[in-house]
Amino acid sequence: MTDPAEAAKRLAAARAVDLVKPGMRLGLGTGSTAAHFVALLGERVAQGLQVVGVPTSVRTREQAAALNIPLSTLDETPQLDLTVDGADEFDPQLRLIKGGGAALLREKIVAAASARMVVVTDRSKQVANLGRFPLPVEVDRFGVPATRLHVIAAGKATGCSGEVKLRLDAHGHVLVTDGGHAILDCAFGIIPDPDALAQKLNAIPGVVEHGLFIGMATAIIVADAAGVEVIGDLS
Ligand code: 5RP
Repeated sequence: MTDPAEAAKRLAAARAVDLVKPGMRLGLGTGSTAAHFVALLGERVAQGLQVVGVPTSVRTREQAAALNIPLSTLDETPQLDLTVDGADEFDPQLRLIKGGGAALLREKIVAAASARMVVVTDRSKQVANLGRFPLPVEVDRFGVPATRLHVIAAGKATGCSGEVKLRLDAHGHVLVTDGGHAILDCAFGIIPDPDALAQKLNAIPGVVEHGLFIGMATAIIVADAAGVEVIGDLS
């Protein structure tokens, strides 16, 4: 693998695969780093490892199914042992921004159903303060302009300002998530108080979920050319 970022993602994913034990119920994340984990998990399953996976998106489900990883849903399997997912950013308190791949709602539901959430990432996602990556906020498609104003106000009330844009897909149409919602990308820059912003966003009726994952990740496996570092508790 020549691309150093992809090599780092693969390295982090490989460390996470070592956490998987026979019989585990796994949450399967979304994105390019999570896809490395799913690919490596598929290799273990082909060698006889028995697990069951709950995907966080249609595309992860398709990847895992193609690799013959046994799959389930939260309807059938509402409690999981471990979720492995990527992130768009993480800070020293293991707080995350997620949703760059538009899967944040299902990612958060699956992570919340898991005893542990381990994040796999390359070093580029590490920040001192969250907010360099525009915060994705998943919103109901009813009344998006009104919800957008509330999101802007929530930002302002917690010291954030910047453009709040409706995400479009590759064809220039409003992007629709797997759950049928839209996404507002909030280019707030540094978020001075992520916990306060999360609370404000939670209180907006049109907000289905936001990409601040606070108190959810139990460990972060971060890789770069020098190797792998574990932040948090992998046990
Ligand atoms: C998808 C996500 C992804 O985990 C996040 O965007 C990171 O993706 P990648 O591993 O491709 O950088 O939150 O909604």
